[in-house]
Amino acid sequence: MERRTGIIAALDTTNALNIAREIREYVDAFKVNYPLVLSEGISVVKELSSYGPVIADFKIADVPHISAMIAEIAFENGAKAVITHGFTGSDSVKAVLDVASRYNGEVYVVTELSSAGGQEFMTGVAERIVEMARNLGCHGLIAPATRPERIRKLRELAGNMQILSPGVGAQGGKAAEAIRAGADFVIVGRSIYEGNAVENARLLAEQLKEVI
Ligand code: XMP
Repeated sequence: MERRTGIIAALDTTNALNIAREIREYVDAFKVNYPLVLSEGISVVKELSSYGPVIADFKIADVPHISAMIAEIAFENGAKAVITHGFTGSDSVKAVLDVASRYNGEVYVVTELSSAGGQEFMTGVAERIVEMARNLGCHGLIAPATRPERIRKLRELAGNMQILSPGVGAQGGKAAEAIRAGADFVIVGRSIYEGNAVENARLLAEQLKEVI
């Protein structure tokens, strides 16, 4: 993913297209998740793509052939990247990567969720997930802005993989701190789209200029 502002807008809102059009100069990509796609349909990925690269955050976590089918649908509808879980094991992640390579697409692997529950099980295996993702040739990782010390640790193991970091703002994480800890991008949802999205995105981009 090419970095200009370091911001990926998570568009978990039905007003996604309008917001994307308004904030595109302040963000590097848009992330879509189930709430938007299940309510608007998969065509929203292609529509959003006219405003910037779209990451399909389907947190893919199934047996290989189904994981591949999900990735195929994302890429054939214009996604630039998909987010997959890593705890499924290397066969499923590899199946997603194989599909991505046919579309020149990218694959980002979840390490541990940014929510408190992410520490219950996922923190314990996150380092192994990073190692697997790196060995398979994945493009990047998702690591929690709510725990910058974990970004720092996972960065050490990540090699050339990019780190995208959610959990900024509404979940308590600080954007600049996540970047300083080793994230390449922050993923920001409510703190952008709730209230004045243009002003929120502009201010965040301004703030991050000092650290990227
Ligand atoms: P907010 O509104 O909290 O939205 O900024 C965050 C967005 O990012 C997603 N999210 C995550 N995705 N691993 C992920 O792959 C995580 O640890 C994580 N935490 C939040 C969330 O789905 C929403 O779209």
